[in-house]
Amino acid sequence: MRVLGIETSCDETSVAVLDGEGRVLSNVVSSQLAAHAPYGGVVPEIAARAHLENLPVTFESALSEAGTDVSDLDLVAATAGPGLIGALLVGLSAGKALAFARDIPLVGVNHLEGHLFSAYLRSGEAALKVEFPFHGLVVSGGHAEFVRVEPDRIVPIARTRDDAPGEAFDKVARRAGLGYPGGPVVDRVAARGEGNRYPLPVGRPGDGSNDFSFSGLKTAMLRKLKEQGVDGGHRDPETLPPDLVDLLASFQRAIVTALLDRVETVHRAEGIATLALSGGVAANSELRRTLSEWGRSRRVRVLLPERGFSTDNGAMIAFAGLLHYRREGADDPSAPVAARSRWPLGSVAAAS
Ligand code: KG4
Ligand code: ZN
Repeated sequence: MRVLGIETSCDETSVAVLDGEGRVLSNVVSSQLAAHAPYGGVVPEIAARAHLENLPVTFESALSEAGTDVSDLDLVAATAGPGLIGALLVGLSAGKALAFARDIPLVGVNHLEGHLFSAYLRSGEAALKVEFPFHGLVVSGGHAEFVRVEPDRIVPIARTRDDAPGEAFDKVARRAGLGYPGGPVVDRVAARGEGNRYPLPVGRPGDGSNDFSFSGLKTAMLRKLKEQGVDGGHRDPETLPPDLVDLLASFQRAIVTALLDRVETVHRAEGIATLALSGGVAANSELRRTLSEWGRSRRVRVLLPERGFSTDNGAMIAFAGLLHYRREGADDPSAPVAARSRWPLGSVAAAS
């Protein structure tokens, strides 16, 4: 079996080919970072146009790297939402056209569901077996979602009330003059800083829910940056003043602490046997280390996505599409899925 995965929800154009066991035969990611970098964030119109330009060559590379001909494909999975509508339409329309032309089934995949299962992918090997229920924590540039994944449904536990953690990394890094995206560079800088030096507030809604809130932290950080005389511009991350390095390390520590706090609270309330971390922020070294150590101390199996599968990629879409297809079959060809800019996790059935 050969599954094609297409991802175009934001600023990465990605196409992957997986076999029926979830083995990744190719996963080609064409980044648009350079096109958006001058604006300090993703510009939707530029993203849609770049997907249109990049998709054909990304598709050809994915097939040739996998040694697969288009006539070998058995299933097409394409991200249908949530995301930028113009960007989504490019990949989803291509997927529909391919499925129609080859007369093979199509599954429209929820991007967050793609992230959720990405921790089960292993390069060069069959995917790990998915056992239910498991807890999933998706942390990315657009989302912080904590859910329980059961065989036939996804139960939301907590989400962010305001900013996503990746968004906080990106905004703070931009103000610190470190460019876009902010996560990877803050991660590198924080590794040589003192994360306990500046205590920073991390909000928790006063209504007793487990929801996240990162906007207070972001605002406090922007104020502290100003106090240090840091306000935009361009800085070399390798030669930052020690105070700024410690401040960035403290900021990263605050985000990791907030995430760990919720994981621990939910573990105490309902027990967690398996925690699957995912999303772009799952590439963060301190978060990976902290959650792994926590898992060892609580005897919880913590699954971390390989770095290539944590930021947006086609392999995770192909895998979620494959699981979905096995459980529910494909979309009805007479009423194929539409692109959706909003598509909350709890409103889709889990793949199994
Ligand atoms: O999942 P993703 O590729 O796109 C979304 O769906 O949002 O996540 C991108 C986000 C960006 O905000 C980026 O700054 C963040 O992931 N990110 C990181 C790291 N690598 C990427 N954040 C913290 N540490 C990292 N190492
Ligand atoms: Zn994503």
